[in-house]
Amino acid sequence: MQYQDFIEHDRTIDTIANYYDHPPAAYVHSFGCQQNVNDGEKIKGVLLQAGFNLTENVQEADLVVFNTCAVREHAQQRVYGNIGALKKLKTEKPKLLIAIGGCMVQQKDVVDKLHQSFPYVDLVFGVNGIDKLPDLIAQRIRGKKRVLGDPVERYDIVENLPIHRDSTFKAWLPIMYGCDNFCSYCIVPFVRGRERSRKPEDILSEFRSLVQSGYKEITLLGQNVNSYGKGLEKKIDFADLLAMLAEQEGDFRIRFMTSHPKDASRKLIDTIASHEKICNNLHLPVQSGSDRILIQMNRKYDVAQYKGLIDYARRTVPRMTFSSDIIVGFPGETEEDFEQTMELVRQIRYVQLFTFIFSRRGGTRAALLPDATPHKVKAERLSRLLRLQEEISREEAAALTGASLRVLVEGPGRGEGELAGRLDNNLVAEFVGDSRLIGQFVEVRITGSKGIYLTAEIAH
Ligand code: SAH
Ligand code: SF4
Ligand code: F3S
Repeated sequence: MQYQDFIEHDRTIDTIANYYDHPPAAYVHSFGCQQNVNDGEKIKGVLLQAGFNLTENVQEADLVVFNTCAVREHAQQRVYGNIGALKKLKTEKPKLLIAIGGCMVQQKDVVDKLHQSFPYVDLVFGVNGIDKLPDLIAQRIRGKKRVLGDPVERYDIVENLPIHRDSTFKAWLPIMYGCDNFCSYCIVPFVRGRERSRKPEDILSEFRSLVQSGYKEITLLGQNVNSYGKGLEKKIDFADLLAMLAEQEGDFRIRFMTSHPKDASRKLIDTIASHEKICNNLHLPVQSGSDRILIQMNRKYDVAQYKGLIDYARRTVPRMTFSSDIIVGFPGETEEDFEQTMELVRQIRYVQLFTFIFSRRGGTRAALLPDATPHKVKAERLSRLLRLQEEISREEAAALTGASLRVLVEGPGRGEGELAGRLDNNLVAEFVGDSRLIGQFVEVRITGSKGIYLTAEIAH
C-alpha cells in the first residue's frame, strides 16, 4: 500500500493552517528502539507535508507528539512524567495540541489511563496510524471530541511515507515490522503485531536512494531480521537480501539488528565474510546464560547452540565482534543461573552489552510467574554484571592499540578540537580533526584507550 500524498488533502492542510494564526511548529520526541526512532522520522515527514515546521524546543511548539515505548515499566513511567509536564504549557497555550503515538498506546489500559488521568491529551494514533496523523489532527481541530480510540492493528505496510531523517549520513532502514517470537517477558509482539516483511524491491529502492543522497551507514532494522522473507511471494531470506544490498555500488557500510540466535544462520555469517561493506559486528542478544532460564524465556536455543554460532563466526570472520542484551532477575533466576550468565559473558567477551532488570509486562506469560527475588538482589547482580563488562570493554579497547582502522566520523568528541568516529565493530575512537570531516569515513591509527573509548590519530 502506498502513502496517499497529503498535499492533495487540501481540506486537512487548510484546517490546520486556519487554526493557527502563524505557521505552526511541531515538537516530535521518540522514546525506545531504533524502529521507533525511524517511525519518529516518518512522523516528522508527514507533519512537514501537512504544513508544520519542526522545533527542538517544546516551549515553542503548537503540536507536541510523543512517540512512545512500552518495553519496560520504567520507559512508560518516563512518558507519563513527560505528559504530566505538558499540563502547564497547555494552560498557557490553549491551542496547543498533544498527540501520543507509538507502542504504549497500543495497549488498552494505557489509552484508558490517558482518557481518565490526562484530559488535556488531544489524540492517540498508535504504531499503525502515522499516515492518518494529519487527518486526526484536522478532525480534532474541527471540533471532534478527543480522538482517543483503541489503536487498530493493521497488517498492510504503508510504503513511501514522507520522511525527515535526523542524520544526513546515518540512516535507519526497516526491512520488516512486528514480531512472532513471543519471548515470555516481551510486550513487543503484542504492541507491534505479527511479523511482516517489506518487499525486496521496496527495500532496494529506498537503499539506493539513501546511497545516492550520500548516506554512509545504513542500518537494516527488524525485531528479528533473520526471519526476513516469510510470507513474501519471492523466495528470499535475510542473507540473500543482505548480499544484494552489499553488492550495490557506492561508498557505504551496512549494519543490521536484531538477530535472534535461534534464526541467525551460518549462511548469514558466510555472507558477512564475503562482503567488505557489511560491518563485522553481530548484535546477538543472549538474554541469559542459563539453559533453565532460556526455556522459561521461550528463547528456543540453549547456551551450547549459542556458543557454537559464535565459534563459527569467529572462525569465519576473525575480526568479528559481538554485542548482546541481557535480562537480569528474570522470575526464578537463582544465584547459580546468574553466575552462568557471568561465565558466558567472560567467555564471549562482548564489546558492548545492554543490560536490563526484568520488568513485568501485563499480558505476557512471564508476568504470571512467581518472582520472589527482592529488587535489591537484582540490582546487586546487575551492578556485578556491569562491572565485569566494563573491565572487558576496557581490555578489548586497549587490545586495539596500534591498529589502523576506518571510522565514520559522527560528531565532536569530548575533548577540545576532538572528533568522535565509530569503528566497524561499534567502538568509538576520539581524535583531533577538522569538523568538516563529520559524516565522512576516515582512516585512523589507534593510540590507546580511555575507559571504553579509544584514542586515535588520523592516519596519513
Ligand atoms: N527484538 C529484539 C529486541 C527487543 S527489545 C531482540 O529480540 O533482541 C530490546 C531488549 O529489551 C531485549 O533484547 C531484552 O533484553 C529487553 N527486554 C524486553 N522485554 C523486557 C522486559 N520485560 N524486562 C526487561 N528487559 C526486557
Ligand atoms: Fe521481544 Fe523476543 Fe520479539 Fe525480540 S524476539 S521483540 S525479545 S518477543
Ligand atoms: Fe519500545 Fe516499541 Fe521498540 S515497545 S523497544 S519502541 S518496538
